[in-house]
Amino acid sequence: PADGVEAHFERTIERDQRVEPRDWMPGRYRTTMVRQIAQHAHSEIIGMQPEGAWITRAPSLRRKAILLAKVQDEAGHGLYLYSAAETLGADRADLTRRLISGRQKYSSIFNYPTTTFADVGVIGWLVDGAAICNQVPLCRSSYGPYARAMVRICKEESFHQRQGYEMLMCLMRGTPAQREMVQDAVDRWWWPSLMMFGPPDADSTHTAQSMAWKIKRHTNDELRQRFVDMTVPQARALGVTLPDPDLRWNEERGHHDFGEIDWSELKRVISGDGPCNAERIEVRRAAHEDGAWVREAAAAHAAKQADTAGR
Ligand code: ACO
Repeated sequence: PADGVEAHFERTIERDQRVEPRDWMPGRYRTTMVRQIAQHAHSEIIGMQPEGAWITRAPSLRRKAILLAKVQDEAGHGLYLYSAAETLGADRADLTRRLISGRQKYSSIFNYPTTTFADVGVIGWLVDGAAICNQVPLCRSSYGPYARAMVRICKEESFHQRQGYEMLMCLMRGTPAQREMVQDAVDRWWWPSLMMFGPPDADSTHTAQSMAWKIKRHTNDELRQRFVDMTVPQARALGVTLPDPDLRWNEERGHHDFGEIDWSELKRVISGDGPCNAERIEVRRAAHEDGAWVREAAAAHAAKQADTAGR
C-alpha cells in the first residue's frame, strides 16, 4: 500500500540509512536529487574550461602534468555524477541538452576568467577548498549513489586543493611580481568563492526541505562560515590578504565575522549574465557537436556487436 512505502521512506531518512535507486521515494525527492546531481555534474564539466585554458601555457612540464591530471579528474567526476543521475531515471543526453539550452544551472564560480597562471593555484586553494567544504558532508547525503560518489570525489578534490596551495607557496617564495600576481588572483576569486555556497539561508529555496530529507547536512550559511574560518589561517600562512576590511575574529561567536556579500552579483551570474557565461556554454555546445560522430560510431559499433552476438 502507498502509505507503507511512504512510511518506509520516512523511516530510512530518520534512521540515517540510505535511499537506493529501486526504493520508493517522493516525486519531489527524486526531482530535487536529479536537479542537484545534474547541476553538480554540469559544474564539473564546465569547470574544466577555466583551468584547461592554461594547460598549453603551464610554466613547466611538472605543472603541466599536474594540471592535465586535475582537469581529467574533473571530467571523471562529471561522468561519475551523470551516472548517479541516471540511477534516478534521468537521461544523460537530455541533461546535456538542458545545460546547453540554459534550462539547468552550473556553479556560478566557473563564469569568471582565469587571467594569469596564479589563478590556477588560487582555484585549487579557494575554489576546490570551498568545494570540499561543501561536499564532505554530502558523503552522508541520504541518496546512496550520490553519497558514495562523493567519497571518491572528495579524495581527489583534496589533492586538487593541496596542489593549488603548494603552487601558491612556491609563487609566494618567488619574486615581488609573482607575489603580486597571487594577491591579485586572491582579490578576484575571494568573493566569488564565498558565493559558491549559494544564497543566504533566508533566500534559499531548497535548503529547508533538503535538510529535512538529509540531502543537505548543513545550510549554505553554515558551510560558508566554516570555509571562512578554515581559510583565514591558511591565508596568513601563505602571506596573502583576503580582500575584506570587515573580516575579523569574533571571540563571542567563536567564528570570523565577514563583510556583506554582493548578492546582486550572484543573482546576475546565476541568471546567465556573468563575465564568461556565454563563452562557457558556447564552448560546451561546440564540444558536444564536435563529438557527435564519436557517439554515432559507438552506437553503431554496439548495435553491430549485439547483432553478431544474437546470431
Ligand atoms: N551557482 C549557481 N547556482 C546556484 C548557486 C551557485 N553558486 N548556489 C545556488 N544556486 C541555485 C540553486 O541551484 C537553486 O536554483 P534552482 O532552484 O533553479 O535549481 C537556487 O540557486 C537557490 O539555491 P538553493 O535553494 O540554496 O539551492 P540548493 O539547496 O541546491 O543549494 C548548493 C545550492 C549548495 C550549491 C547545493 O546544490 C549543493 O550542495 N550542490 C552540490 C555541490 C555542487 O554542485 N558543487 C558545484 C561546484 S564545486 C565543483 O564542481 C568543483
